[in-house]
Amino acid sequence: DKGNHRHFMAKEIYEQPEVVGHTLGHYLDFAGGRCAPDAIGGIDFASLDRLSITACGTAYYAGLVAKYWFERFARLPVDIDIASEFRYREQPLTPNGLSIVVSQSGETADTLASLRYAKAEGQKVAAIVNVQESTIARESDFVLPTLAGPEIGVASTKAFSCQLSVLASLAVAAGKARGHLTDVDEERLVRALSEIPRLMSQALRLETQMEALARDLAKVQHILYLGRGTSYPLALEGALKLKEISYIHAEGYAAGELKHGPIALIDENMPVVVIAPYDRIFDKTVSNMQEVAARGGRIILLTDPKGRDAAAIDAVETVILPEMPSTITPLVYTIPIQLLAYHTAVFMGTDVDQPRNLAKSVTVE
Ligand code: M6R
Repeated sequence: DKGNHRHFMAKEIYEQPEVVGHTLGHYLDFAGGRCAPDAIGGIDFASLDRLSITACGTAYYAGLVAKYWFERFARLPVDIDIASEFRYREQPLTPNGLSIVVSQSGETADTLASLRYAKAEGQKVAAIVNVQESTIARESDFVLPTLAGPEIGVASTKAFSCQLSVLASLAVAAGKARGHLTDVDEERLVRALSEIPRLMSQALRLETQMEALARDLAKVQHILYLGRGTSYPLALEGALKLKEISYIHAEGYAAGELKHGPIALIDENMPVVVIAPYDRIFDKTVSNMQEVAARGGRIILLTDPKGRDAAAIDAVETVILPEMPSTITPLVYTIPIQLLAYHTAVFMGTDVDQPRNLAKSVTVE
């Protein structure tokens, strides 16, 4: 049932404040400003010397965001791999390491094979899964559910934000267990995370603006997405979302990589979506935007009021999100990114919920 929506994808985008609230509420004690230790079922973060996160597609990008969180909050080194590479690379896994696999369906062939590889190497495996009766859930030592409910649209939306919710909660729990976060830090972070559903609802109000921007994007051949820090995986995710449902060629890059190649592509026919909340590396992204603007590239900037004032570049279309702590920006900025892809696909007239050549669950390699 799509409710009042034209597509499951739209319905699932709109469900996010609620399902993200449920998922965060499962892993965090909002009232106490603490992590809920029972929810992570005995994972001993203090004894770990390494994490490896493995997944495919959008779930991989959730893992890539989490690398920044685990390294910053818990000083825990993270290897992050695409499952189809992990399973064949024959990398050594440290005895004190933990493998985390991330999968909406819990049936993705390469992710399952990676889980089996890690177990055969003697590692414990924690699975972040949406389908709790899945093979990946069954074969894992720890099951950490995302409470997104069934996701029907092939393009993952609410499963992604729920994966981020679990991973953010885990990173805070790990930081606490490893003594890198104080009680005060923990409380501050839990409070910040508890604000996400409200901020997501505010971000959903950007739909009309995203639809207007999508009307123009539906006319172009190529689009570039740029971001730094946790906005870099979000740039990759934005490009994937757009290409899979609109069939427009899109690429995501770390903004700092622009001058190492992709800047050669920039001209007036190449829109560039820049994801840049105002943070400690904002100025660096502004210089990348200046490079794009100088070559006639059209910029769509996703930022906040401070970022708008500080960017001071002409000919930028700005999408303004509320100000928020930098930890939670990936969860909130994903909403306009999803809406932009969705409306571009609607203008293109594609089959949004079941794009060509794709399956919801990829059970063969
Ligand atoms: O079920 P999984 O989370 O393991 O699926 C992984 C990818 O196939 C999936 O995220 C895919 O990239 C989506 N279609 C992206 O929207």
